[in-house]
Amino acid sequence: MSNKMWGGRFGGGPDAIMEDINASIEFDRKLAPQDIVASKAHVAMLASQGIVTPQAAASISTGLSDIAGEIAAGSFTFSRALEDIHMNIESRLASLAGADAGRLHTARSRNDQVAVDFRLWVRDTADALQLQMHALQLALATRAREHAKTIMPGFTHLQTAQPVTFGHHLLAYVEMLGRDRGRLRDARARMNECPLGAAALAGTSFPIDRHQTARALGFDRPTANSLDSVSDRDFALEVLGAAAICAMHLSRLAEELVLWVTPQFGFVALSDKFTTGSSIMPQKRNPDAAELVRGKTGRIYGALTGLLVVMKGLPLTYSKDMQEDKEGTFDALEALSLCLAAMTGMILDLAVDTKRMKRAAGAGFSTATDLADWLVCHLNLPFREAHHVTGRLVALAEARHCGLEDLSLDEMRRVHAAITPEIYGVLGVRRSVESRTSYGGTAPKNVAAAARRWLARLAKEAKTFHPQEPTA
Ligand code: ARG
Repeated sequence: MSNKMWGGRFGGGPDAIMEDINASIEFDRKLAPQDIVASKAHVAMLASQGIVTPQAAASISTGLSDIAGEIAAGSFTFSRALEDIHMNIESRLASLAGADAGRLHTARSRNDQVAVDFRLWVRDTADALQLQMHALQLALATRAREHAKTIMPGFTHLQTAQPVTFGHHLLAYVEMLGRDRGRLRDARARMNECPLGAAALAGTSFPIDRHQTARALGFDRPTANSLDSVSDRDFALEVLGAAAICAMHLSRLAEELVLWVTPQFGFVALSDKFTTGSSIMPQKRNPDAAELVRGKTGRIYGALTGLLVVMKGLPLTYSKDMQEDKEGTFDALEALSLCLAAMTGMILDLAVDTKRMKRAAGAGFSTATDLADWLVCHLNLPFREAHHVTGRLVALAEARHCGLEDLSLDEMRRVHAAITPEIYGVLGVRRSVESRTSYGGTAPKNVAAAARRWLARLAKEAKTFHPQEPTA
């Protein structure tokens, strides 16, 4: 359909293009449950304040319930011409509730309406993500307890550094996820204020009760400034920021899994459930799920950056730019949810090759620090000199293509005359990890205790989670 004024140059008419750029119904239909629940809270408040009659409120509320039913059943017809979810629902309400339907929008604007809908979605999704993070922590801590004594190489620069335990390594991620959850908890506490009733931007002259609607929707209080209420999107930015950091953590673990399943490392094997084969190379088992956890991190960062850029130049208050807040946020938080689920599955069914891990732990002169410490403790050398002597012993072993424990006492004594046979006691990887008993260190008994502590704490936290019915 061409437009009279510029149809010659445009294949489609401007109205169609305007609809294309303007309509958000393809993605904001996801907010239907939040939109309905917020509208019900609003109309109940209008009735209790005497702004609409109880009869009108009842017929609006019934109409909204019917619409929720139609949407759930898939029989609702969404129309692009009606632009967004708010107008789609309101238009349908008009055909169900008649003239009363028009009273729902009293003392409200789409600006505070979308702000409350989106905030409810972000808040409830953040709650669900917290639960998933908790589940992953539980999986990691369970495997950590099982592998409190399993020895593996610890790395710096991806070079073998010192032996550690696999349980210790897994618990490092439990700590990270604990902070990730904390960030979501903090963001939730800050965002849990209700913007409904800010109306277009200035508030309203109707005698509304914003405390009532805030309470009804599970918010702690109404937002304090109407301009801020309709133009704030930092609640979404905070959650995206927390999501981006969590995704970074998951991506690091995913990267380790990708390395560890290679034949070169061979530390762990992923089950059939989380790998794929190759259509040409029959021997292959590819860690696709881990790779996708790593890969999806990109889109989560993208959503955070995207929304920061959308918001940075906007004068107060609402501008239509802000409609761009939703797709990236939906996509990113859904991607994170999938990553958490996939990672939990992989960790739970990971098979660990403890022999290979232990062998690798001994390679690369990983007990050189233990040797240097021994020289300090038993020969009273200053650490710097002990470091130097050890370096010469490592060079010698390297030249002989053998391990430190394979050097003869004579060979060692040529480097430092006072060395005694007791030195061989510290060259084994087990002795090495067992000696790391400092607070937070990798000694198996530390790790077993830390895993137990986490498991107890996670069990306690599981009881305090309100099996919170999502608001909508
Ligand atoms: N679809 C819009 C959005 O997502 C709803 C708010 C529209 N407000 C307005 N003043 N045009 O942001």
